[in-house]
Amino acid sequence: MNQMEVSFSAILDNENFARTTVATFLTPLNPTIDEIIEWKTIVSEAVSNAIIHGYNQNSECFVVIKMKIEGRQIQLTVQDYGKGIENLEEVKTPFYTTAKDLEHAGMGLTIIETLADRLEIESVINIGTKLIITKNLKDHDTI
Ligand SMILES: Nc1ncnc2c1ncn2[C@@H]1O[C@H](COP(=O)(O)OP(=O)(O)O)[C@@H](O)[C@H]1O
Ligand SMILES: [Mg+2]
Repeated sequence: MNQMEVSFSAILDNENFARTTVATFLTPLNPTIDEIIEWKTIVSEAVSNAIIHGYNQNSECFVVIKMKIEGRQIQLTVQDYGKGIENLEEVKTPFYTTAKDLEHAGMGLTIIETLADRLEIESVINIGTKLIITKNLKDHDTI
């Protein structure tokens, strides 16, 4: 078992820090390029949601990411203590968004759900939102 926890300010400049940190933590497991790209995409979507929707880009707030590795099973949690999700049943629906501009196509959570083995969302209004994402790395010996 190997674990890490990182906390950073809710500014979009830190999205790349989060992506790179997660990818680096996975490096000893020798992931494929495709797996690295998938994890980076998952982190981008989850962290940008926390920063934009959770915190409205308030730099005084913090996003927390935690990772747990057991064998080749990876669990990532992305947590904010922001505004929370009102329609928890609807948010995973493709194209559902509360930010109706061109940059927000409403596909972030759908993309995470597609790339991950499992996506759980826990959210309470004005308490915050936690995404629990699990995804196994391929076993290279069996390829
Ligand atoms: N961390 C969060 N805090 C509050 N609301 C969120 C959070 N993540 C997602 N949401 C809500 O879920 C909706 C869908 O998210 P997503 O699928 O990533 O689409 P988009 O970010 O393009 O709107 C968002 O528009 C927002 O209303
Ligand atoms: Mg999004």
